Amino acid sequence: MRQPDGAALFGALFMCALLLALTHRAGAFPWSIDMFRGESVQAMAQSPRVMPHGTLPVDGEAPMSREVAAATLHNPLKPTAAALAAGKSLFENNCAACHGDGGRGDGTVRFLLRVPPADLTAGVAAQRSDGYIYATIRNGSIMMPSYGDAMSPTERWEVVLYVRSLQRRTSAR
Ligand code: HEC
Repeated sequence: MRQPDGAALFGALFMCALLLALTHRAGAFPWSIDMFRGESVQAMAQSPRVMPHGTLPVDGEAPMSREVAAATLHNPLKPTAAALAAGKSLFENNCAACHGDGGRGDGTVRFLLRVPPADLTAGVAAQRSDGYIYATIRNGSIMMPSYGDAMSPTERWEVVLYVRSLQRRTSAR
């Protein structure tokens, strides 16, 4: 047999080195199977941690039922001309379609609603606390949608001021 010359030897060594390098790269397959043998983590396999009451903020405020809000929240705003004007504009844009410009439950879309919008100036609705009106705007009511994300807390209190002024206007008549 002919002795291998230098070039052939070099070639053979080169091929071996190449093969080693490639098999090293290919080492992930098929014997490395930890990825599919791994412990699977199923979303919601564990029930989520229960949020302690009042810790999940809504709009920077802790969530609160209307009952709690009615009893504990007080309007931080004074009925200045500017606050009332802001409340009037918000009321006319967000509430009047259902509740009417004067808050008497006679808005233009009233005929579309199966449950009539409350007359905010009479009966039990007029006796509600500021916190109750505030929470109704934020949380919505039985049929009334929530206006929580349509207004900031300050804007909601401005609307409360304006609803109060509508009620005074009605009772003065
Ligand atoms: C899509 C129509 C609609 C709009 C808009 C609307 N409301 Fe109402 N609202 C209702 C209806 C219907 C009721 C009565 C049924 C219920 O409680 O869900 C009601 C009830 C209320 C009550 C509760 C009265 C009570 O004694 O329980 C308040 C307070 C109130 N609305 C204020 C507002 C204010 C303030 C706005 C504007 C930010 C507004 N609403 C926008 C339909 C509407």
